[in-house]
Amino acid sequence: MKRSITLVEVLLVLVLFLFGEAPWAVGGSSHCKQKSPVEVRPHSVTITEFGAVGDGVTLNTKAFHNAIFYLQSFADKGGAQLFVPAGRWLTGGFILISHLTLLLDKEAVILGSTDSDDWPIEDPLPSYGRGRELPGGRHRSLIYGENLTDVIITGHNGTIDGQGSVWWNRFKNGTLNYTRPHLVELMNSTEVVISNLTFLNSPFWTIHPVYCSQVIVQNVTILAPLDSPNTDGIDPDSSDDVCIEDCYISTGDDLISIKSGWDEYGISYARPSSNIVIHRLTGETGLGSGISIGSEMSGGVSEVHAESLRFFNSNNGIRIKTAPGRGGYVRNIYISDLTMTDVKIAIRFTGQYGEHPDEFYDPKALPVIDKISIKDVTGENIRLAGLLEGIEGDNFLNICLSNITLSVTKDPPWNCSYIQGYSNLVSPKICELLSEGIYPEHSSDCYHLPNHLRSSAGHNRAAWFMKR
Ligand SMILES: *[C@@H]1O[C@H](CO)[C@@H](O)[C@H](O)[C@H]1NC(C)=O
Ligand SMILES: *[C@@H]1O[C@H](CO)[C@@H](O)[C@H](O)[C@H]1NC(C)=O
Ligand SMILES: *[C@@H]1O[C@H](CO)[C@@H](O)[C@H](O)[C@H]1NC(C)=O
Ligand SMILES: *[C@@H]1O[C@H](CO)[C@@H](O)[C@H](O)[C@H]1NC(C)=O
Ligand SMILES: *[C@@H]1O[C@H](CO)[C@@H](O)[C@H](O)[C@H]1NC(C)=O
Ligand SMILES: *[C@@H]1O[C@H](CO)[C@@H](O)[C@H](O)[C@H]1NC(C)=O
Ligand SMILES: *[C@@H]1O[C@H](CO)[C@@H](O)[C@H](O)[C@H]1NC(C)=O
Ligand SMILES: *[C@@H]1O[C@H](CO)[C@@H](O)[C@H](O)[C@H]1NC(C)=O
Ligand SMILES: *[C@@H]1O[C@H](CO)[C@@H](O)[C@H](O)[C@H]1NC(C)=O
Repeated sequence: MKRSITLVEVLLVLVLFLFGEAPWAVGGSSHCKQKSPVEVRPHSVTITEFGAVGDGVTLNTKAFHNAIFYLQSFADKGGAQLFVPAGRWLTGGFILISHLTLLLDKEAVILGSTDSDDWPIEDPLPSYGRGRELPGGRHRSLIYGENLTDVIITGHNGTIDGQGSVWWNRFKNGTLNYTRPHLVELMNSTEVVISNLTFLNSPFWTIHPVYCSQVIVQNVTILAPLDSPNTDGIDPDSSDDVCIEDCYISTGDDLISIKSGWDEYGISYARPSSNIVIHRLTGETGLGSGISIGSEMSGGVSEVHAESLRFFNSNNGIRIKTAPGRGGYVRNIYISDLTMTDVKIAIRFTGQYGEHPDEFYDPKALPVIDKISIKDVTGENIRLAGLLEGIEGDNFLNICLSNITLSVTKDPPWNCSYIQGYSNLVSPKICELLSEGIYPEHSSDCYHLPNHLRSSAGHNRAAWFMKR
């Protein structure tokens, strides 16, 4: 990792800053423009120095805790790195600190304990008011961080395995006492990078940034059985400036689900998710969607820009889920360059998703769904092109679908209610609620990709380059 910067590299970086194009960037450049943390730490320790044993049997929770406790003293000295070498490192949950890099070697596997006592209970999120699946607290994630800045979780495709099957069984046989844990959760944190890793078998959602800013998830593989319950891939929740790039996800539920709190709790917490960039996402999901927004969206979701998406063998392609009682909004969503194969419903809006935290939600709190653009889509072996259901008395507005070609087996191919918008070049012929003619007369009613995202800036590439 540590390597001095040569004169050639300095010149190349200068070229990047001056011309904003990386001459060697082949096959697509990074869209992640967030300020990213320093990657080279002046201090590094290895988990074995703290007594860890990588035999897959010894419980190493204390070793992780002690190593991270020791590294705290380096936080104000440029931070530190915790290296996990090849081996199978069984552990209960542990908590990260600021200015830390957790680096896994190629053959390193962090294994989550199958004993639920190794996953402590913590308070529910204020924007949910209770655990997502059961009232009360929730099990803390295996890898957890709160109030942090400058955290990197990375590796040479090392593995973090939640061994979730015991949790899925407890869910199925009704023996859970608290909501299942995530594999990785960062709360109220900034400058987070999660990259170059494989995540397996999360008990519940896999990567959950909540109340975070400046998060990059890059080049990760997330796998769980297609029938595993609620094993979402990446769930940005009440977070902004999140960039997800070059990921392969195959799980039981949504590959990516963008959220912002639940009914009255999410409305009063009022922390939206915004500026979410998704670029080059491939995968399949059993019950879920390639990209979903909601159903918890009560703090609002806006400025979502997703491009280069490949979904196969999945239930839904793109889905927006909401319900009376959620309040909040979903607006300024741009999705383009989407290819689907063997997907049941290509585009799906659900206005009556239901699922409320308790009886105190306000059924008059209606969500505002406005300016959703989906374009440049192809699909093979699609059952239903679109099931687009808004809310009676609360139409979903300015839904703009263009350049969509799907081979669909069901007739009629589109089923629309309580929506309004425009279409252009859609085959098979779309429902009449989305009237033909975006260009030119309704172009200004539709959301378009903002200029600053049309080509990726050179500064970002230079930043990544310099960090090597
Ligand atoms: C995070 O900050 C909040 C608000 O200042 C505080 O209540 C909480 O205890 C902090 N959490 C940790 C783990 O320090
Ligand atoms: C978030 O973390 C910062 C420290 O990074 C702290 O000052 C703030 O109080 C925290 N906010 C909440 C709501 O926990
Ligand atoms: C993705 O990760 C693999 C394995 O760690 C690495 O070889 C490859 O260079 C990474 N690709 C990018 C674009 O970072
Ligand atoms: C990382 O490992 C996973 C699981 O073994 C594999 O599917 C994936 O292709 C690997 N990724 C890279 C970039 O090598
Ligand atoms: C439920 O599943 C868990 C995890 O597999 C198992 O330990 C437990 O015995 C099961 N309980 C019942 C009542 O089936
Ligand atoms: C749930 O609580 C019961 C009774 O305290 C306990 O025996 C069981 O192990 C708990 N289950 C889990 C998954 O922690
Ligand atoms: C991922 O690994 C590749 C190859 O080692 C490296 O070039 C890249 O910078 C890493 N990316 C991140 C975001 O850590
Ligand atoms: C329509 O979308 C396809 C990709 O699905 C793209 O190749 C083509 O250029 C688009 N056509 C127009 C007119 O934008
Ligand atoms: C449209 O969808 C609704 C709700 O799923 C269903 O009840 C109705 O039968 C569908 N209409 C057609 C024509 O398929």
